[in-house]
Amino acid sequence: MLIRPRRNRKSQVIRDMVQENRLHASDFIFPLFIIDGKNLKTEVASMPGIFRYSIDNLLLEVESCLKLGLKSFDLFPNLEESLKDQTASESLNEKGLYLRAIKEIKTHFPEACIVTDVAMDPYSSDGHDGLVEDGEIINDKTLEILARMAVAQARAGADIIAPSDMMDGRVQYIREALDADGFSNVSIMSYTAKYASAFYGPFRDALNSAPKFGDKKTYQMNPANQKEALIEGALDMQEGADFLMVKPALAYLDVIKLMKDNFDLPIAAYNVSGEYSMLKAAAQRGWLDEQRATLETLMGIKRAGADVILTYHAKEVLAKGWV
Ligand code: PBG
Repeated sequence: MLIRPRRNRKSQVIRDMVQENRLHASDFIFPLFIIDGKNLKTEVASMPGIFRYSIDNLLLEVESCLKLGLKSFDLFPNLEESLKDQTASESLNEKGLYLRAIKEIKTHFPEACIVTDVAMDPYSSDGHDGLVEDGEIINDKTLEILARMAVAQARAGADIIAPSDMMDGRVQYIREALDADGFSNVSIMSYTAKYASAFYGPFRDALNSAPKFGDKKTYQMNPANQKEALIEGALDMQEGADFLMVKPALAYLDVIKLMKDNFDLPIAAYNVSGEYSMLKAAAQRGWLDEQRATLETLMGIKRAGADVILTYHAKEVLAKGWV
């Protein structure tokens, strides 16, 4: 045999030398759930190790992440039912939970990179990402609501706006609104290929944001489709996105690769709540080696082509020195 691939695996030094991909703190964006109140840190039942923080504790959490080199955060609000309405008006409230949280973090930790979520669901009495009229999600009227939400978040200090709603045309609409208000430096990370997935279940528990009727299949993509992601990617490129995201990650590694091969923008992948929960559950039962399974999962997402990984594992892998 002239060629023996095992020679490059014969020692740890050589295995390290020829390793093709590495995980690093700068790969990660850490999602954080926020709740109103004081001194609160309540665990999400279906996401062991993940908490909803009141703003005071959120600041402590951000500080401890920064010390680990974890510098980017994606914020999501859990709102009381009484604050929700049809038009998601609470999303514009400068004294409201979400915009206050952004401001507080940027005041205390200007070096932190804040990604904000643009979609109506946490604020909507219908629990949908868009405006509901007669049981339908109305695309074009939703755009105006999303654009105002994005501008309010930019004004509060967001570094990156991440529209997760899957309405058509929203990236350009938001881009133009941001530019018109003087926020041409604020980036857009578009949820480009977001699938109608069962793996968002624990997230909807965390935020109490499940749709009140129906499902999200008229706006989120069919898990059976791959080429459709190219249509969405081409649109987001034209509309001015700075990052293209695929979500979820694990059942969609082919889509991550497809995006990486076809578009020159950085590709983000969202390792979603249900993906986190299933790994945690198996690890808690001793069915999987948690460290190895977690790193293998994150590496798989990176190897598929993700430049950025949004993951609930981010803090733990750094705190435990796994990465
Ligand atoms: C809502 C939104 C969802 C997630 C991020 N933004 C849920 C949904 O679309 O229902 C899911 C994240 C996760 O499951 O971790 N716009």
